Amino acid sequence: MVHYFTDNWENIQNFQARPEDILIATYPKAGTTWVSNTLDLLYFGKTDQERQSSLPIYLRVPFLEMAFPGMPLGVELADKLPTTPRLIKTHLPVQLVPKSFWEQNCRVVYVARNAKDNAVSYFHFDRMNMGDPEPGDWNTFLKRFMDGKMVFGPWYDHVCGYWEKKQTYSNIHYMFFEDMVEDTGHEVERLCSFLGLSTPIEERERITKGTHFDAMKQNNMTNYSTLPIMDFKVSPFMRKGKVGDWKNHFTVAQNEQFNEHYKQKMKNSTLRFRTEI
Ligand code: PPS
Repeated sequence: MVHYFTDNWENIQNFQARPEDILIATYPKAGTTWVSNTLDLLYFGKTDQERQSSLPIYLRVPFLEMAFPGMPLGVELADKLPTTPRLIKTHLPVQLVPKSFWEQNCRVVYVARNAKDNAVSYFHFDRMNMGDPEPGDWNTFLKRFMDGKMVFGPWYDHVCGYWEKKQTYSNIHYMFFEDMVEDTGHEVERLCSFLGLSTPIEERERITKGTHFDAMKQNNMTNYSTLPIMDFKVSPFMRKGKVGDWKNHFTVAQNEQFNEHYKQKMKNSTLRFRTEI
């Protein structure tokens, strides 16, 4: 981990969750912002439109473990959220989630993305985000991703950790980036059913449109253009939003090695991903 996430460790671990809190948990670059914006619109889109037009997503849905210079701490932002429910983002692997979330039986929405596209998106993010280690070239980065030497640990453990937690903790909704791309409307409907929301179909359709890649890319409140630690000249935050972009990055040899390694790492898991749709 980098110090931006460990500097405030005690306070993160001691964070006091409330029963209504909703934790949006992901491995970085799996679709956090998309699902955060969707939940924000589902809960507050009708009642508080000013919120969506004046507050960037990282203030509406604070990043719990964040301790970036010049910005309020994630735990402080989360603590001060005036909304019910409070929507809170984390990239922490399941074993490091503050225990109050489990004690309060909070709802957890976990978003997972296939490893290949996740790695590609992460590579471009590390190039443009000054808070993360330099990625090096693509081959070096991919090796590090496979070795699990990443800021939030191995992708494999992260996605499997929450998947296993689901066996004993029923308040987790485990969803996939690929399903969101394929049929956003259906995934929003499933989210509503998990959250116990009876959002009318017209409203759900409005949200599906409002959270489309193009809409979020244009929208300064969701595209991270207001965060100075990101250099959009290197790469935009809202980059492509596709399934299968890995094919433009992996060489045949890298793909073969990755597949072999993946088979080993995931051999004990029932979790299945789609790398194309
Ligand atoms: S972060 O930094 O971990 O919070 O990033 P995260 O939001 O998890 O992931 C960013 C990637 O998600 C894509 N994205 C979307 N794709 C499709 N539709 C929508 N609405 C959308 N919003 C975000 C974003 O483009 C990043 O993926 P890549 O592949 O890099 O484009």
